[in-house]
Amino acid sequence: MCKKIGVLTSGGDCPGLNAVIRSVVKCASYRGWEVYGIPRGTDGLMAVYQGLCQPEDLLLHEHGFNIPGILQGLDILQFLSGSVLGSLSRGNPSQPEISQQIIGGYKRLELDALIVIGGDGSFDIIYDLAHRGNWNLIAIPKTIDNDVPFTERSIGFDTAVSTVTNALYDLTFTAASHDRVMVVQVMGRDAGHLSLYAGIAGGADVILIPELVPTIHEGILHQICSRIAKLRQKGRRFALVVVSEGVKNRDGRKERYIGDYLSDRIREHSLVLCSTGHDKYCDMNQVDTRATTLGHIQRSGVPTSVDRLLAAAFGSKAIDVIAENQHNQLIIWKESQVQAIPLADVIPEIRQCHRENRCPAPVKHDDYMVSVAQSLGIYTGNERFHFSDQRESCWAEPSNVNAEAVHV
Ligand code: F6P
Repeated sequence: MCKKIGVLTSGGDCPGLNAVIRSVVKCASYRGWEVYGIPRGTDGLMAVYQGLCQPEDLLLHEHGFNIPGILQGLDILQFLSGSVLGSLSRGNPSQPEISQQIIGGYKRLELDALIVIGGDGSFDIIYDLAHRGNWNLIAIPKTIDNDVPFTERSIGFDTAVSTVTNALYDLTFTAASHDRVMVVQVMGRDAGHLSLYAGIAGGADVILIPELVPTIHEGILHQICSRIAKLRQKGRRFALVVVSEGVKNRDGRKERYIGDYLSDRIREHSLVLCSTGHDKYCDMNQVDTRATTLGHIQRSGVPTSVDRLLAAAFGSKAIDVIAENQHNQLIIWKESQVQAIPLADVIPEIRQCHRENRCPAPVKHDDYMVSVAQSLGIYTGNERFHFSDQRESCWAEPSNVNAEAVHV
């Protein structure tokens, strides 16, 4: 039977959204189904209800773009960042008059299912609409923060890890040329996955994430400065510090530019240390710090092959699930497989976290990559970590330093 499927993107954009849309359209077209691309999230369903756009104008076809010349029909969707449908990350569609119109839009399109590519916040809100409108809601997780629960990976995360890793690589050389400490602020509203992964891949010396370092207190600054001092004793005069935007200042408040805040605190604290008279901090008065906030560049870029593969698999699974008449499912990546799990099991957990102001999928303290960072000697701030005595004893004392002979 020919089915009618709606697809929309909701919440902050990320690389790979278009690749999911492409996969949905291709897999559905293969079955002879129709796909309606809903513009600007749930606002698009309201527009349909209000008659501001006609169903036939929303039909998506699988034959690529109408580019003139020899590129005619080129399927570039999977390479493009952003969302060709536009996205919505504001407003509250649960207000009665608004939700009624959104539900009316689904009805007017006579949809059999709606695929929502979104994050935990969008799923929470749209699940309610789906319940009231008796929709079949299929949710596909996306976010560079990688903090949607029940799935090991969300669309956009891998590309963002690459983007941040490349930025760290670029910053290394200017840091080295000027003997500077580069403090790099990385996105991740409440979760440190992006900072942790990119920090390891990009060669950071310090990675601060909210799960391990909720606030930047004196003890943390002391450890960071000690680490910088030790690097200097070994002959490496620059350092890379990654700080996730979810880390709070010493008063437990969020800073818009926590990277700048940390950069200033490191400079201040290094001056305090150098006045202690302790040999190992003797050149800390020359610590020069700079902060870089990577910002929304992390949400863009050509999606990596991993994100494109994930997008292809998620889109294909969503269509399979609808064909099998399964209802209200979250598509997930778990143990190297794509799976579908009931939203009825997912949403209560998300809501509980939101109520308690907790991140639904934080970096766990026993996450393997945390211990990887630690064994590489990256300072992550958590109590469990300190250099082992054996390693400690291998550090050259300042007076014996032969920079050429010491490798970091
Ligand atoms: O959730 C994804 C994310 O990119 C966060 O990492 C960041 O805090 C937030 O979105 C920024 O959102 P906005 O689009 O409102 O600037």
